[in-house]
Amino acid sequence: MHYPYQIKSLEDYRNIYERSVQDPELFWSDIADHFTWRKKWNRVLQWEFHTPKVEWFIGGKLNITENCIDRHLIHHADAPAIIWEPNDPNEKFRKISYRELHREVCMVAAVLRKLGVKKGDRVCIYMGMIPELTIAALACARIGAIHSIVFGGFSAESISDRIQDAHAEFVICCDGAYRGSKIIDLKAIVDDALTSCSFVKKVLVYQRTKTEVTMHTGRDVWWHEIRNETDSVTALQIPAEEMDSEDPLFILYTSGSTGKPKGVVHTCAGYMVYTHYSFVNVFQYTIDDVHFCTADIGWITGHSYIIYGPLSAGATSLMFEGIPTWPDAGRFWSIVDKHQVNILYTAPTAIRSLMTFGLVPFQNKNLSSLKVLGSVGEPINEEAWHWYHEHAGKNKCPIVDTWWQTETGGILISNLAGVTPEKPTFATLPLPGIQALLMDEDGHVITENNKIGYLCMKFPWPGIMRTTYGNHELCRRTYFEKFTDLYFTGDGAFRDENGFYRITGRVDDVLKISGHRIGTAEVENVINMHPDIVESAVVGYHHEIKGQAIYAFVVNNGHKRIENELRNEINHNLSEHIGPIVKADKIQFVSGLPKTRSGKIMRRILRKIAEGELENLGDTTTLLDPAIVEEIIKGRQ
Ligand code: PRX
Repeated sequence: MHYPYQIKSLEDYRNIYERSVQDPELFWSDIADHFTWRKKWNRVLQWEFHTPKVEWFIGGKLNITENCIDRHLIHHADAPAIIWEPNDPNEKFRKISYRELHREVCMVAAVLRKLGVKKGDRVCIYMGMIPELTIAALACARIGAIHSIVFGGFSAESISDRIQDAHAEFVICCDGAYRGSKIIDLKAIVDDALTSCSFVKKVLVYQRTKTEVTMHTGRDVWWHEIRNETDSVTALQIPAEEMDSEDPLFILYTSGSTGKPKGVVHTCAGYMVYTHYSFVNVFQYTIDDVHFCTADIGWITGHSYIIYGPLSAGATSLMFEGIPTWPDAGRFWSIVDKHQVNILYTAPTAIRSLMTFGLVPFQNKNLSSLKVLGSVGEPINEEAWHWYHEHAGKNKCPIVDTWWQTETGGILISNLAGVTPEKPTFATLPLPGIQALLMDEDGHVITENNKIGYLCMKFPWPGIMRTTYGNHELCRRTYFEKFTDLYFTGDGAFRDENGFYRITGRVDDVLKISGHRIGTAEVENVINMHPDIVESAVVGYHHEIKGQAIYAFVVNNGHKRIENELRNEINHNLSEHIGPIVKADKIQFVSGLPKTRSGKIMRRILRKIAEGELENLGDTTTLLDPAIVEEIIKGRQ
């Protein structure tokens, strides 16, 4: 089965795109008509970017879980909604039908109500990649609570920052999570985080690893115990909460140029319509396909293309608990073979890491079910593109290079699988409704081909973020100030003679390390906490597998220290304060940093030194101490 709004040819795309920009309100309301509403909207859109204020489907009432679950029960109840592949291939996988998903979500929604969670409350979720994570998120949405999912690779301090910022009085976690050969003690990390969050009322704990945990009387509740005490007949009868189109659905924290991550807020209706529309069009999903997105649900890709996009389309979404290289580097290919996966959506960093294992992991794996491959999270280099195309796709599967961000909710620029042309390393064309443009430093629109500029959007789409939680001014300053009346993405890009976009990477102080988004200021703050360190400057440099890695220039306080010891302490602190996903690959001790006379660190110079581009460092005469550059070059790692 196809979806009535699925684009079927390049010509079709061009016509639909034209229509979508000529009358965006009509275009999006035609799409939104295909969903289940308790009450239809009375106005499609109200917006102004300078405030910013964006509202879609104003006055509409709905519950996103009725669109992701209940409406599929009529004809599709026994179809698998989720296929779950555990970390250990010897453990039995799970298949959860839409009927079972409905029952579980209603049960957990009833549990949350019993624990005192109400509409509008924030619930922090810190779990491994198990179906109960999806169930927990949907249960929140069912009762109108706002979920804030925190990726399992973040530390106790990162969790407590997020809990405090959102003032989340409820937490859902697991005892532990499996990750390759390791067990991560999630509950112990949560306990640690909560020492500074005494306002948290309840912690619901799902038992996954049977790791020993401390349960705090009065606060901590076992998921299985309270679930078993819940009456399923009553739970299934409780109606889903009626939500306004613009009620918040979730908060997801993401890094920017400022020190602390921001809570990006997405709302119910617009996000639903956009993730759904982009899912069925970019991947050309047809019913009964198995869609395997390898991202973690702790990131936006998991929110949009494991949970909400696929489930709103009645799709089968495959969730994987483990890592691509354990027990061996053929894990993805075994999963594709075992579950007859049709769509595989992963990150360039995973592809590059698998490339280092050669072709042996493909042996005896039948990948003939694959129809579409996808890439997300960072620019894909040509070599990785071709390897993916040849060895995973056997030269017959289109690759969609999907460009988007936490803030955009869904994919904005991408080819549509097999429908619009692909071009290695190019995200290609904007989706219908997406009015992209490139700006130069002086605020002029770039019309020439092949000229790099700042990637911006001039009109809202339903999935755009609405605010940053608790700080609307920060949202305005970060995204809507640099260019008047435009949304600024923070990325650089150029367009070729076909109008295809190629993303060149971040133009701000945000790094993409193995696809993970990390702000250099966050890293510097932690490095500077060390008593032997005066200041530091962090930049990214090209890394064969991770895409980018961290290079830290560090000024210590003159105490004689063994450098490697200090390096280990810095990395230990990064792991403790941000999470084990952050590590400085190179740490160079310097006696000072290149600064302008006004005290601003010249990161441009440090970036070039880190990349080894030593010939053309630009003008260094305006520096306070030009000699420092020579010293840094000499000690380069
Ligand atoms: O720099 C772009 C890069 O990832 C950034 C957004 O990161 P995040 O919010 O974590 O979301 C990642 C998953 C959507 C962007 O500003 N990026 C994402 N996709 C691509 C990309 N860069 C190049 N090509 C892509 N396909």
